[in-house]
Formats: sequence, C-alpha cells, structure tokens
Amino acid sequence: MKPLAEQAPAIHDGAPAGEGARVDSHLAEGETRTLAQDALVGLTRPQKELPPKHFYDARGAALFDRICELPEYYPTRTERSILEERAAELARLTGAVELVELGSGTASKTRVLLDALHHAGTLRRYVPVDVTEALVHECARELPREYSGLRVHGVVGDFERHLDRIPPPEGRRLVVFLGGTIGNFAPSARRRLLARLTRLLSPGDWLLIGADLVKDPHVLEHAYNDSEGVTAEFNRNLLHVLNRELAADFRPADFEHVAFFDRRREWIEMRLRARRAHTVNVGALGMRVRFALGEEIRTEISAKFTRTRLERELAAAALRPARWLSDARELFALTLSQPA
Ligand code: AVJ
Repeated sequence: MKPLAEQAPAIHDGAPAGEGARVDSHLAEGETRTLAQDALVGLTRPQKELPPKHFYDARGAALFDRICELPEYYPTRTERSILEERAAELARLTGAVELVELGSGTASKTRVLLDALHHAGTLRRYVPVDVTEALVHECARELPREYSGLRVHGVVGDFERHLDRIPPPEGRRLVVFLGGTIGNFAPSARRRLLARLTRLLSPGDWLLIGADLVKDPHVLEHAYNDSEGVTAEFNRNLLHVLNRELAADFRPADFEHVAFFDRRREWIEMRLRARRAHTVNVGALGMRVRFALGEEIRTEISAKFTRTRLERELAAAALRPARWLSDARELFALTLSQPA
C-alpha cells in the first residue's frame, strides 16, 4: 500500500503542477457549501441521510485504501485481476489517445491500464478527476515521470457537478469509471450520470465501467462488515468531516456502524446508528440535530448489478455494450461500451 500524500496546498485553475502536468481545482470554496447544504437537507429529514462523497477527506481516502486491502473486501482485487488479464486487449481494441478517469483516487488500478496503453504506444494524456485534491496532485506529480511522454491534466471536482470542466478531447478517448462507484448512485441519479458520461464521448470513443455484481448476500455483507472494523471507522469518518468542516460536535463513538444487503433493491446500505438519545450541534448551520436511541443516518448505498440490468441501463443512456469482462466467480465485472 502506498502512503497517502500529505494534503497538498490548494492550487487553483491552471496553476503549473510540474513538467507535463496541470491541475484545475473546482472545489476551493464550493465543497464546504455542498457539505453544508447536504447536511442541512439530509439531517432534517425524517430518515436522516448524507451522501457518501463526503467520506473522502485525506483520512477517509486513507481508510478507503485500507478497506481495499481487507481480506473480506473482494471488489478491488477482483477488478485489478480482471484488468491485469485484459488490459492488453483493451488497449488494442480501444487505441486510446487519452484516458479520462472518474474517481481516480490513487490510480493504482489505473496503472495497469496506463501500462498497457503506454506499451501500445497510443496514449498521450491522462485526465484524472477526483474529489480528493491531494490524490489528484499526487497523480499529476508522479505519472509524467513514470510514463515518458504522458501529460496529466488533473481535475479536482465532483463528477456529479464538474464533468463539463473536463478539457476537450485530444483524440480517441477512453473514459473509465472503476471500483464499482457507479453503485453509489440511486437509480435515477445513475440514469442522469450515465447520460452525462455519454456526452463525454464522440463516435468511436469508449466507456469502461466497473460494477460489483449481485451474489450471495453473506459474501456482500462480510465485505462491508470487516472483522478489523476499518469499514466502521470509514463510515464514522463522515462525522469527523462534519465536526471539522461544519463545527459540529458529533461524538463518533456514539454511533454504531451498520451495513446490510437490501435484497429487494439489490444494494448494500450503510448507516450510522445512535447508541443513545442525544442532541448534536452543527455550529456552522446554527442547527441542533436530535437523535433518538437507535436512530440512523443513511451514509451510503452501493448497488450490485446483474449483466442484464447494467446492459439495459447502458442502452437507456445511448450506450452500446461491446465487451463484458468478469472473473471466473462472477464477483465483479467491467463493461466496455461505445456511443450507440
Ligand atoms: C468506492 C463506492 C465502490 O461501495 O464498495 C467500501 C465504498 N464503502 N466500503 C463500495 C465503500 C464501504 C465503495 N465504493
């Protein structure tokens, strides 16, 4: 596991990030406002809810990296092994000149693709898009050194709001959205996101999406209830973020981690459950939030897919499936498609 870079200083639009690299940041003032808005709306609902994108401050990103190494958490290593097996084929098939990655994180799996595309000799630019500023800077710093001739144009932003900030294409484009993050979106938001992804593509371009598959509920539930409690700490990190960013006084230890598979909706749901009745102050919002004993905040959904459903959703977004790449146990799949 790679150590997480220290939080990089905020660099704004167009600031140079070193030879062959550039990072545009769109979160500077925006993101706190979104968190405030999400907290205001989400914590005053009868069923309290906060969106999972707020997990990923530097600590949250580091905890997520640890989750990826857990024995119970199969998605990351399964996706990586599929990529390792099929990257050369993907490089040959797509002939990509640029790789645009949504939710790039540490780009550790992406390196498998970058290696193959670099080796094929077509790749000239990598565009990582992520909410975690430090990680985008790390990519911009390291990747041009690792891959000769590769330029990196990083975008620090939220892919629900900043897809229009992705620089115009410089050639045959491969957009990748890995890790199963597509599952974080409820069906209607997913429909909108897929339609927006289609608009990033010109005829002949490619979209590669990683999706976790429906399987034995016990396997799924273990992946989100690890024995070391890393996922629990990741879940509670949301409260640390609220305390710091919105001057709240949550006591994370007052909340229990809950994760279960909703069999009807075919998604994992994570919640934080109050261990006692109490009231929390959210200073920046001048708001007091009451929790009954056992009351829950929904913090994440992680949808699981069948091939039929995913391909139907792609078709609805004017995408034509070209390849379905999955592991022998059908735990996880990568689906490659093109604009219809
Ligand atoms: C990054 C959204 C794919 O849903 O499995 C891992 C996040 N949450 N453990 C997932 C997560 C709890 C992860 N994604």
